[in-house]
Amino acid sequence: MKKIAIALISLPLFALSGAALAADAAAGADKASMCLDCHMNDDFKGLSAEDIEGMIKAARAGDDHDPSINDLAEEDIADVAAWFAHEGAK
Ligand code: HEC
Repeated sequence: MKKIAIALISLPLFALSGAALAADAAAGADKASMCLDCHMNDDFKGLSAEDIEGMIKAARAGDDHDPSINDLAEEDIADVAAWFAHEGAK
């Protein structure tokens, strides 16, 4: 009985932490639409979400990219990177 109670308590905690950690490709689709004026869905084909995230951050930090990349909120970078990784893997 005690074990079951512990399992029931820890389950939602696990689900919550999983959701908070995982970048959300579905949410990223919406935010990536502003990138698709110039980029293709598979512009970052073959790259991992982590790689793409790093490239987006580098592009924001540099002066070369169109300033529109700064319209992307900091907290949305991981989602957009996950979406491009997902699209590029098709
Ligand atoms: C106005 C057109 C335009 C928009 C909008 C745009 N980009 Fe770009 N992006 C470019 C061009 C052109 C390049 C290639 C030249 C350069 O690196 O600046 C580029 C390059 C990049 C690179 C670097 C690629 C590399 O090989 O290092 C990343 C990452 C990137 N864009 C991400 C994004 C993301 C994410 C968005 C949406 C938030 C976005 N871009 C929106 C035009 C655009």
